[in-house]
Amino acid sequence: QPSPDFYEAVGGDDTFHRLVAAFYRGVAEDQVLRPLYPEEDLGPAEERFRLFLMQYWGGPRTYSEQRGHPRLRMRHAPFRVGVAERDAWLSRMRDAMDEIALPAEYDATIWEYFVRAADFMVNHIEDI
Ligand code: HEM
Repeated sequence: QPSPDFYEAVGGDDTFHRLVAAFYRGVAEDQVLRPLYPEEDLGPAEERFRLFLMQYWGGPRTYSEQRGHPRLRMRHAPFRVGVAERDAWLSRMRDAMDEIALPAEYDATIWEYFVRAADFMVNHIEDI
């Protein structure tokens, strides 16, 4: 489980701000992903995702103070996440990771997590 030491080593709040901002710039122009987001303003979704990642990687626990237990699969149930959506999500996340250019070892650790988490979020079994 990631620790506060990992969070600081990887660059703390600033790193997760930059990562999630870059990712949502990609989402905003993605023809597969953008229609899934219920709100016209992506800002609140961006903040929820940023707070979740900060907490997951050993930072402040603000996400759970505001949202409770993450239950991410349940929270994604209203959205159709098939293979195409997973691949689009990972592709936009890869671009965001490249943009912030973490040291290779941290990049690999976080990227492996995203690949696993994105597979876990697929909820349209007929697509697998
Ligand atoms: C929320 C799509 C994968 C973390 C959402 C929302 C959508 C979405 C449409 C609702 C936006 C909102 O908050 O209003 C997708 C798609 C994925 C994916 C298509 C493709 C696999 C992931 C992964 C993670 C993640 C891998 C974690 C690493 C979150 C979080 C929220 C969220 C934390 C906000 C939950 C809350 O309501 O508190 N996602 N997502 N998502 N997603 Fe994803």
